[in-house]
Amino acid sequence: MSGPELSDFGGGPFGIYVHVPFCATRCGYCDFNTYTAGELGTSASPQSWLAALRGELATAAAQFAALPTTTPEVSTIFIGGGTPSLLGGAGLAEVLDAVRANFTLAPDAEVTTESNPESTSPEFFEQLLGAGFTRISLGMQSAAAHVLKVLDRTHTPGRAVAAAREARAVGFEHVNLDLIYGTPGERDSDLDASLDAVLSAGVDHVSAYSLIVEDGTALARRVRRGELPAPDDDVLAARYERIDARLGAAGLTWYEVSNWAAGESAACRHNLGYWDGGDWLGAGPGAHSHVGGVRWWNVKHPARYADRVAAGGLPAAGWEQLTADERYTERLMLAVRLRTGLPLADLDTVGTAAAARVIADGLATSSADRLVLTDRGRLLADGVVRQLLVP
Ligand SMILES: C[S@@+](CC[C@H](N)C(=O)[O-])C[C@H]1O[C@@H](n2cnc3c(N)ncnc32)[C@H](O)[C@@H]1O
Ligand code: SF4
Repeated sequence: MSGPELSDFGGGPFGIYVHVPFCATRCGYCDFNTYTAGELGTSASPQSWLAALRGELATAAAQFAALPTTTPEVSTIFIGGGTPSLLGGAGLAEVLDAVRANFTLAPDAEVTTESNPESTSPEFFEQLLGAGFTRISLGMQSAAAHVLKVLDRTHTPGRAVAAAREARAVGFEHVNLDLIYGTPGERDSDLDASLDAVLSAGVDHVSAYSLIVEDGTALARRVRRGELPAPDDDVLAARYERIDARLGAAGLTWYEVSNWAAGESAACRHNLGYWDGGDWLGAGPGAHSHVGGVRWWNVKHPARYADRVAAGGLPAAGWEQLTADERYTERLMLAVRLRTGLPLADLDTVGTAAAARVIADGLATSSADRLVLTDRGRLLADGVVRQLLVP
């Protein structure tokens, strides 16, 4: 396959995402591109992955250097997975060095890594801080032991909060905890316990996702067999309202439908780059990239990925040039979910008519000529997007 044909940078912020495709075990609900050591056998390892990643970063930097605009400074880096913390502090420092060897970081760059609570320690966080990381995102999911069990999470209920405290104690100002709500068997009191725990950790950012039953996962098989009930929409809506009320009362306000932060400086700039239509290089197996309206996605298996990097060129499985219509749809889908909303003037005729209906129905307001979801609109964000797009 010929690689993506890039024309130029889009002019927005430039970020780099690095995908670490390794996990100690596979959680039953997760369909991310990640592999256990047993699944990979001898076909790939963290060492072969890092060697291939270096190759991909060098190839991408060379292709960017041929574009009309000088490659922008990297304003954000996000190392995600999978379980980046399995690489250890020294391994993650090497990943950051590999990025630095090929790109120039902005002096105030935001550098995040995801971490699983059970593969962290105060020493690990110290190494990360020393290496130049500025932000830690921890997968907590729940504080209730029976909920963690349904999710196949291996950490004990208190470990995520302890890890967040350790990260803060070594000097990380920006720490996120991920929650999943609506897991079968989760009670209101379990969610309250999770929120108590999150708030006791003193983090400045929380992401809360309703449990998605993804096709092909162990969770989906258990739901299909009737062993577990599917998450109930009314329960999910009530839980979302509870999360928003409790986080809001503690000074964490929403800035995207599933994300809350203690003020503007605590928002995740990397994710805002995606949602605002910025440019990013996604490096690693299965990672997606977007540069100036061209989108590409890497081959998913770590062994195939390494083969493609070794063969030269970007390890893309496919690429596309977004049409103006696709860009409009994408921008709208992402911007509607943000607290900053979408300028009404950017809507086409279908969108303008739908916006009037959505406002009349109390799902959005037009504040400063922007369409912004109301509290009720946030519960129905996908439906609002559909109304704005479909005549
Ligand atoms: C892919 S994980 C990577 C981080 C890390 N491995 C972890 O699990 O903590 C990022 C986050 O996605 C969320 N997530 C993954 N699968 C999900 C699902 N099926 N439904 C809802 N949230 C999900 C979890 O909150 C998780 O912390
Ligand atoms: S640890 Fe994270 S990435 Fe790995 S399987 Fe579990 S949810 Fe997915």
